[in-house]
Amino acid sequence: MIHITASDKSLLAQKAHSYVLFLQEGFSASKDLKEVAQILPDLSLILKKREFTGKSGQVYATSFSIHGEIRLLVLAGLGKAAPKKKIDIEQFRRSLARAIKESIRHKSSTVAVALPESELFGVDVAYLAEQTACIAYMGSYHFNEFLTDDSRKEEDLQELIVCVISKDKKAVAQGLEVGNCIGSGVNRARHWIDSPPSVLTPTVLANHAKELAKEAGLKLQIFDEKQVIAMGMGGLHGVSRGSDEECRFVVLEYHTKRKNAPTIAFVGKGITFDSGGLSIKPADYMEDMKEDMSGAAAVICALHILAHLKPDVNVIGIAPMSENLPSGKALKPGDVLRFYNGKTAEVRNTDAEGRLILADALSYAVKHYKPSAIIDVATLTGACAYALGHFYTGMMSQHDDLVAQVQASADRSGDRVWRLPMHDDYKPAIRSEVADISNTGSRKYMAGTVTAAHFLQHFVDDVPWVHLDIAGSAYNVPDIPYFRPGATGAGVRLLVDLAINWKD
Ligand code: BES
Ligand code: ZN
Ligand code: ZN
Repeated sequence: MIHITASDKSLLAQKAHSYVLFLQEGFSASKDLKEVAQILPDLSLILKKREFTGKSGQVYATSFSIHGEIRLLVLAGLGKAAPKKKIDIEQFRRSLARAIKESIRHKSSTVAVALPESELFGVDVAYLAEQTACIAYMGSYHFNEFLTDDSRKEEDLQELIVCVISKDKKAVAQGLEVGNCIGSGVNRARHWIDSPPSVLTPTVLANHAKELAKEAGLKLQIFDEKQVIAMGMGGLHGVSRGSDEECRFVVLEYHTKRKNAPTIAFVGKGITFDSGGLSIKPADYMEDMKEDMSGAAAVICALHILAHLKPDVNVIGIAPMSENLPSGKALKPGDVLRFYNGKTAEVRNTDAEGRLILADALSYAVKHYKPSAIIDVATLTGACAYALGHFYTGMMSQHDDLVAQVQASADRSGDRVWRLPMHDDYKPAIRSEVADISNTGSRKYMAGTVTAAHFLQHFVDDVPWVHLDIAGSAYNVPDIPYFRPGATGAGVRLLVDLAINWKD
């Protein structure tokens, strides 16, 4: 945890290892650097020489002496607003993450930041405080667990002091607290995803969910493989058959105290390792397949966050968990599976396993909760990463109202989505001669991301539903400073925002 506090004193009045100041492009040295100029009189000349102009992406760090110690001053560029517009809040997120990374590189564990005026971004101060706390976590995330060389271990950010002059101290404090909760949850998901697949098995992941549920007072059910078979979940069991590890089916429930509140369901793909099964992946496509439980991680961590933030809506989190491995017992191309809702599918490719376990999970959500909406999150298709790259999650749905809500949450939270067309024209792609549907789209239709969504649609009946394909956005997103190689926690911020701002 990072200890995050607000202070109405000036930046340099704080006791910290690193002092962060944000500057817009074309800043005024006499005004914006007034406080630091008392300690570093030559700063504006140095900045000219170093060509620090406040452009977005620029950071400048220098040592200076304060309170009798040598400390670090970090200047971070915010860029400038387009004509008649405000500065995009995303510039702030990235600028803050860069400043935090720079501080950590200099072994600073206590960082003080001067919060820019929220007006600059056209947002309220509570939201700005929330984003600040959340990005402090995301920007300082690292995975040191298996490093033995101490020099490669990154510093933990232990304390963040946010200097802010605001009349509304309560709003600032609340914003920081919300951001603290969301940021730590995002990093928890990233930690699970980055964990080696033989460490994080379905059983272990389900146990993590259990610990969180206990801590936060969420209702929890865990079904083991025997129960999964008995319930008729042929998809989850089929995928799990090839593995020595047992599968798990995890259901978490958050209940609001508000009477007659609607219920929404989140469903996350939890393949803790995807080898492809008998339709085995080439080695270089398999390297990062521990990431294939990112959807489940997002759903579980979102529910844990929501248990603390207590929105006015009931939220169900469902995560089917399995390995996908080849063996003498494994699912074969040509096999036909029967799912929880009674429908059947022909397995033509055992590497299209995500939709098989999601079919049972979506059916379960519909049957037991009749929710107002279902959102599923899954590293479902390589095709999605090819189509959109790493910067956007693919969004598919035929419910425009729900799409609008998800889009608004993506915009607010910074967890970006881009809609792909889920037109009925793509529907015949998953026709099968021997079963209700096939688990792979026919080649002549292409668009593997959309045809996968059509497969899932067979299991949601008429419940409004959005499918989020995070195959590109969950892992190895380049260039964005609050990410790093490895897991991003895609989906967590979006799901939390959606529940908090839910409109039925
Ligand atoms: N887990 C993969 C999708 C994936 C690929 C996620 C790359 C993240 C990065 C999924 O189970 C899969 O293998 N899908 C197949 C589907 C195909 C066989 C119809 C794919 O995308 O090739
Ligand atoms: Zn697969
Ligand atoms: Zn997969």
